[in-house]
Amino acid sequence: MQVTIIGSGYVGLTTGVALAYLGHQVTLLDKNPAVVSALVKGSCTIYEYGMDELMQSARHNISFTTSFAGIGSSRVILIAVGTPPKSSGDADLGFVENAVAQIAGHLDGTNYPVIVNKSTVPPGTASRVKTLVNNILLGKGIYSGVKVASNPEFLREGTAFLDALYPDRIIIGAEDRSTTEVLIELYNPIIKQSFTAPACLPRPKGYAGPVLFATNPLNAELIKYASNAFLAMKISFINEFAGLAELLNADIVDVAYGMGLDSRIGDKFLRAGVGWGGSCFGKDARAILYTAQKYGYSLPLVQAAIEVNDRQKKLVTSKIRSSLKTIPGSTIGIIGLAFKPGTDDCRETPATDLISELLNMGAFIKVYDPMAMENYQKQNPGLPVEYAADLADLAAGCDALVLLTEWEQFKNADWQSLRQLMKKNVFIDGRNLFDPRVMDELGFVYHGVGRRV
Ligand code: UGA
Repeated sequence: MQVTIIGSGYVGLTTGVALAYLGHQVTLLDKNPAVVSALVKGSCTIYEYGMDELMQSARHNISFTTSFAGIGSSRVILIAVGTPPKSSGDADLGFVENAVAQIAGHLDGTNYPVIVNKSTVPPGTASRVKTLVNNILLGKGIYSGVKVASNPEFLREGTAFLDALYPDRIIIGAEDRSTTEVLIELYNPIIKQSFTAPACLPRPKGYAGPVLFATNPLNAELIKYASNAFLAMKISFINEFAGLAELLNADIVDVAYGMGLDSRIGDKFLRAGVGWGGSCFGKDARAILYTAQKYGYSLPLVQAAIEVNDRQKKLVTSKIRSSLKTIPGSTIGIIGLAFKPGTDDCRETPATDLISELLNMGAFIKVYDPMAMENYQKQNPGLPVEYAADLADLAAGCDALVLLTEWEQFKNADWQSLRQLMKKNVFIDGRNLFDPRVMDELGFVYHGVGRRV
């Protein structure tokens, strides 16, 4: 099937490469010539596990362009442009609207591709997009039969290809059966699991394909927001109980495990820590709060999830303060800058607030991340921190280490030797990566989140 994807950011690029891998003819369109020329040269703008292998296998099925010419011959157009937050919290649909205007400007009435919103957009956007396209086409004297669908993505950074090839669900929000069928055809290799699994991403044991749920566009749009808000709330919930567990001398890791054994609750997204970050949860929670407010309604649980998350970041700072006694003049090593492992993405990473607070208190900050240092430095030019070459370089002379991203390689490092490089022995584990008893035996003054040694 001929597919054009507008926007070669995170969602567009991973979706495009996955669809091309499945055998579709994919054109990735981005307005930024630098992004397109980098992709043409085979260099990727983002890091994602599996990208090289999938891109290599799919290279004959994928092309890159900045031009909308010829877009009308696509069977499906996926819009995957950014929807950044406005200061009100509302999602800014400027990029979506520009893309739609360009698409409509290039349609001539001979072929109507299905226009699909993949970007996370406020409920009602599909119908807004349809009106926009139809108005532009009417202006050209074309009475249009354009169909607009919502097909939200549920890709997690770091496991985006796993989620794309082996999803739990595919949500198709279309206004009629024939539009749904076009999207079923698009995802058929995934639905039937008829593709050969890439070597780097073997089919998970027992995986039998996704559940396909066809609904209307409005419901699909709301499913996306409700899902992200629910996941954010789940994390905030366990973080809220982590604070109580600490006071009671209980262990939140055991509590979460015990809760997760109930299949109604489930064991996922119950890892207490420094709070959620990334470009999605906070932005989407605020956007749906704004939507509710527009209708004179409130979402107190979503509001509380944000408040608990903000408080959680502060709790980690106060943990550092209470274990170090004095912060001014102390050297603190931050382990992990990415908002989670498996990515170099530092958007809304908990590291940012924490580092700025510690700098304000007069600490000297060293940082290390195996993948995200370059991005972090680019996003925070001139930040007075020392970028360490590796964990040993980071630990040397530190009064405290604070782990914020649970990269697997951190778990396997030689902490005994690292401990000896430090000036003092405080270790704040903001992700509960380590066994408190082991860290205690290694001579650290160890603090996890919601657990005692
Ligand atoms: C999230 C959703 O999980 C995806 O389904 C969705 O498609 C995506 O947003 C999006 O809307 O585009 P992502 O932000 O990539 O994906 O990352 P997550 O794995 O959900 O993690 C988000 C944050 O929550 C991270 O900072 C992570 O460290 C934190 N987290 C996650 C916890 O603190 N505890 C947990 O138990 C799980």
